[in-house]
Amino acid sequence: MLVIDEIGALRRQVARWRAAGERLAFVPTMGNLHEGHLALVRAARANAQRVLVSIFVNPMQFGPREDLATYPRTLEQDRQALAQLGADLLFVPSAAAVYPRGLAEQTRVEVPGLSDTLCGASRPGHFVGVATVVCKLFNMVQPDVALFGEKDFQQLLVIGRMTEDLSLPIEIIGVATVREPDGLAMSSRNGYLTADERALAPALYQALRRGADALLDGDPPHEVERGGLAALRAAGFKPDYFAVRRAEDLAEASGEDRDLVILAAAFVGGTRLIDNYRVRRGGLD
Ligand code: PAF
Repeated sequence: MLVIDEIGALRRQVARWRAAGERLAFVPTMGNLHEGHLALVRAARANAQRVLVSIFVNPMQFGPREDLATYPRTLEQDRQALAQLGADLLFVPSAAAVYPRGLAEQTRVEVPGLSDTLCGASRPGHFVGVATVVCKLFNMVQPDVALFGEKDFQQLLVIGRMTEDLSLPIEIIGVATVREPDGLAMSSRNGYLTADERALAPALYQALRRGADALLDGDPPHEVERGGLAALRAAGFKPDYFAVRRAEDLAEASGEDRDLVILAAAFVGGTRLIDNYRVRRGGLD
């Protein structure tokens, strides 16, 4: 596996593969890879001849009181896992390479609407940071296809919309959330949990599943949301949101909408966990 930290060298290698007519799949990450990331790499492998992965802890998507400084950095371990899976290239740019003029002077990419709700409301500027860095990485790598986890459902929609709005010729593929045996969605931030917090963390997924059952039983979205928030509080979480939305665009769900998603974010101790559950009500093909 090639390891490249310089944009020019990346472009030269990509040009060689393109000249050979090879299809390129790209998995952008912030490292500290777990089974969820490895599932993206396997799906990338199944979609293209060449698999490129980036590791870049993107300062633009962290708020001032968030965990940029402590975000786990495990480059050597990640490199070994990717090499074992047969990734072709690992791109590890520095912050100076990605943001040569610093963050304040960086041109930004904003996806209005989709970025302002849910996690975007709680983490102002977060999705501008995500859309900007992903757009820049797309322009550096110029892949045919890029893969993102469905665990970050709002992020997946923001990136899909950004790609469409900017007419980027890249197919965006969402890959199913990988879970621990007790249902907890895999996340780099799970490593922050104490043993007691880890024991109660699966209650987030359980609340989502109960919410999905209630929706399928015909309960109205606002009651499902109220029940979900109460369940999270009872389990020991400090909920941020528990929301039933239209899966297509995260608009408020109405009685007629069939393709729904329940999204939740909640703090357990100082760690903010997110998860979601897709609900397809009767009548869809
Ligand atoms: O999901 C992530 O790890 C990040 O938000 C991403 C997409 C790599 C952008 O920094």
